[in-house]
Amino acid sequence: MSNTMQEMQTDIGLVNTIVARSALSFIDGENGVLEYVGYDIDDLARNSTFEETTFLLWNKRLPSRSELAEFTEQIRTNYDLSDRMWDIIVSLPRDASPMHALRTLTSALSLEDPGADDPSEEANARKSLAMLTKMPALIAGFDRHRKGLDLVRPDATISLSENFLYMLNGIKPTERMARAMDICLILHADHGFNASTFASLVTISTLSDMYSAVTTAIGTLKGPLHGGANQVVMIMLQEIEGLDSVEEYVMDKLAKKDKIMGFGHRVYKAYDPRATYLKTFAEGIAEDTGNTELFELSKRIEQIMDREVGSRGIYPNVDFYSATTYFSLGIDLDLFTPLFAMSRVSGWTAHCLEYLEDNRLIRPRCDYVGPHQQEYIAISQR
Ligand code: SDX
Repeated sequence: MSNTMQEMQTDIGLVNTIVARSALSFIDGENGVLEYVGYDIDDLARNSTFEETTFLLWNKRLPSRSELAEFTEQIRTNYDLSDRMWDIIVSLPRDASPMHALRTLTSALSLEDPGADDPSEEANARKSLAMLTKMPALIAGFDRHRKGLDLVRPDATISLSENFLYMLNGIKPTERMARAMDICLILHADHGFNASTFASLVTISTLSDMYSAVTTAIGTLKGPLHGGANQVVMIMLQEIEGLDSVEEYVMDKLAKKDKIMGFGHRVYKAYDPRATYLKTFAEGIAEDTGNTELFELSKRIEQIMDREVGSRGIYPNVDFYSATTYFSLGIDLDLFTPLFAMSRVSGWTAHCLEYLEDNRLIRPRCDYVGPHQQEYIAISQR
């Protein structure tokens, strides 16, 4: 039963609307807590792996040792792309942006899946696995293609994070680098009904297919108000000339009512717990890789933002310190958001699978404010 238009509340931006129930991630925005299926994000970042975290999101429980081994095996045997997909990668324009390429390539995965429209639970799980496991090759493959480098086929003996860095750089990463990447993937894996997850749910709720839902999500993640912010944070850090220029830069932006990217959040009015973790992490990696100046710049921006807008609950979000972390890991700026997608695909698909258990079409109303009963005038008389 739906309410009459008079009984409905207008809620621009869905700020105060709960659209569904979910048992995947819990966010306490007042106290800065994030849990996946009841496990604290900090605990997972310290102890889990991206593979295990994905199992948790897809099954709503941690795996046993043998289940994890089996799941890891399934992931690794799915890393590689078909020859046709590799051909599609090298047919893309070299100057395309990696997010546009990733959206197109993820969508293209559906073209060679004869079960792309099979709505069964089993087929949806298989498609989720295909997107999760192949995204690293899509991103790394496109990056090497645009740089004119030979493509590197995946190595099915190593973890998803390690394999991504291997396919990207052509050499195996150090253990420390691979672990850093893995922790970043864990921290970005899920986050309630963020805009891209919600977009994927709108698509799946029409009983479309998992490839379409994830393609929708990638397009939504790309915007600078959402996942695209991490790249813009880095551009900002590079624009600032040095520690002495930070004050003027930030104050000037705030005076013009410009947003400082990487700050503020719809749900967190306390420090984003992922940012707490990433800050410590960014500091360590920046020190190891000689990027301390970048970290100092970030810290100075945070101090000024805290002084100016901290009392309004505007703190660093996940995108702020992930930028320094990725940069210190030697990742190109325009790959920051694809990396977010490579992790979040686990959450997108988990939410779609969960929503389909009790599907209902998502279709809100709009508050029509245009004219009524206009007289149609023939085009020759307008
Ligand atoms: C992600 O939803 C998720 O869970 C997302 C995410 C995930 O894991 O999926 O956590 C990932 O998307 C992180 C957010 C990345 N975006 C940015 O870093 C862009 C910069 N931040 C913002 O533009 C903003 O804070 C949003 C978009 C994140 C939230 O927007 P809201 O909830 O619509 O809030 P708003 O823009 O209306 O801001 C409220 C007030 C405004 O001031 P007033 O008009 O009330 O005076 O806070 C101010 C804003 O001007 N404000 C900022 C600010 N963020 C909010 N002022 C300066 N710099 C900022 N970054």
